[in-house]
Amino acid sequence: MRLLLGIGGGIAAYKAVELARRATQRGFEVRCVLTDAARQFVSATSLQAVCRYPVRDSLWDQAAEAAMGHIELARWAEHVLIAPATANLVARLAHGFANDLLTTLVLASPAPLTLAPAMNQAMWRHPATQQNLAVLRSRNVRIIGPDVGDQACGDVGPGRMVDVDDLIASLSPNGPLTGQRWVVSAGPTFEDIDPVRFVGNRSSGKMGFAIASAAAAMGAGVTLVCGPVTLQTPNGISRIDVRSATQMLDAVLSACKGAHVYVGAAAVADYRPSSVADQKLKKSADVLELRLIKNPDILATVAALPDRPFVVGFAAETRELLEYARRKREAKGADVILANDVSEPVFDHDESALVAIAAQEEQLFPRQSKIDLARSVIQWLMPRIAGSSA
Ligand code: CTP
Repeated sequence: MRLLLGIGGGIAAYKAVELARRATQRGFEVRCVLTDAARQFVSATSLQAVCRYPVRDSLWDQAAEAAMGHIELARWAEHVLIAPATANLVARLAHGFANDLLTTLVLASPAPLTLAPAMNQAMWRHPATQQNLAVLRSRNVRIIGPDVGDQACGDVGPGRMVDVDDLIASLSPNGPLTGQRWVVSAGPTFEDIDPVRFVGNRSSGKMGFAIASAAAAMGAGVTLVCGPVTLQTPNGISRIDVRSATQMLDAVLSACKGAHVYVGAAAVADYRPSSVADQKLKKSADVLELRLIKNPDILATVAALPDRPFVVGFAAETRELLEYARRKREAKGADVILANDVSEPVFDHDESALVAIAAQEEQLFPRQSKIDLARSVIQWLMPRIAGSSA
C-alpha cells in the first residue's frame, strides 16, 4: 500500500520515525510530509533514512515539485495517515484549510484519511476540538485513539498517540485480503550430515519474506515458515523457524489447516543424508561418499490434501524455464507456479522477474524490486484465488 504519512508538530512526532520504519517493513511504501511545527520535533533526515524517499515539508520547494508535484503526490497516496494529529491540525482539517503542504494534500487526495490525535488532555477535551472531530467523523475520517495515560506535560488523561504497531495494524484490516489466512514458506532448508556440516540450497529468503510482508500489508493473517535465514520478521506476521525439509513439512502442514493460500517460496533441499552422524566426521579417505535420500515434496503434499488451500509454488530453473515450470505445476498439482530464471543473478538480490503459470494463462512480471513484485503477483492472484474452489 502507498501510504502518505503526515506528521504534525507535537511531542509524539518523535514516534513518527519508528512508525515509518515499521510501516516500510510491513510492505507499505511510505512518503512523509512534515508540517512546519513537526520539523521542531523530528528530522527529515531520519525519516528519509527509514523510508528511503525525500521528505516533503513545503509547498514551495521547486526541486520537489519538479520531481513529483503535490497534486501528483496526493493522487499517488492510497491511504493518508496523520500521526500525530495535533489540535491545530484537527481544526485546520475540519475547516478545509489548505494553508500548508499537508492540509493541501489532504484536500487534493481522494484516499481514505486516518488521524491519530495526540495532544494535552485539556486540549483534547475542549469542545472546539471535540466539535472539529465530530465534523471529521461525519466525513468518514477515521480517528484512532488517543490513549489515556501519562503525558509529556505531566498531566494524566486522554491525549497519548496510540501505539505505533496498533496504528499500522489498524491500516491493514480493511485490505483486500482481510479474513484470509496465508501460509508462506521461505529460505533454504539445511540437511545435517553431522553436528557441524550440512547440505543445503542457496536462498536468502527475500522473495518469500516479500510475499509474506505484502500479503500482511493487504490484510491477510500470515504464517511464515522459514528455514535458516538472517532476515528480520516483518511486523504482524507469525513466524515459525525450522531447519530441515521434514521439519518444514510438519510446520507447513499444521499451519495450513484452515488456510486459504499456501505459497511455497522455500528452496527445499531435494535430498538429505540417509543418516546423521552423532559426532563430527573425521577426515580420512580421499573420496567421501554421501548417501542421500529424497525429501518429501512439501508443495505436492499440500496440493494433495483433501481440504487444501490455493497452492502457489515456485520453479527455479537455469534453462528451459517455461517448459520445466509448466511440467512442475502439473506434476505437483499446484494452482500456480511462479517461474524464476536463476541463471540471472537473483540469489540475495533485491530484484527479480517472474512468469506466473496457471492452467489456462501465463503472465510475465518484469524485473523489479522483490517487494513490488510480491505486490503485483498478489494482485494478479487475488481474482484467481477468489474464483477457485480451494
Ligand atoms: N518444493 C517443495 N518440497 C521439495 C522440493 C521443492 O515443496 N522437497 C517446492 C518449492 O518450495 C517450490 C517448488 O516445489 O515451490 C519447486 O521447487 P524447485 O526446487 O524449483 O523444484 P524441484 O521439485 O526441487 O525440482 P528440480 O530440483 O528437479 O528442478
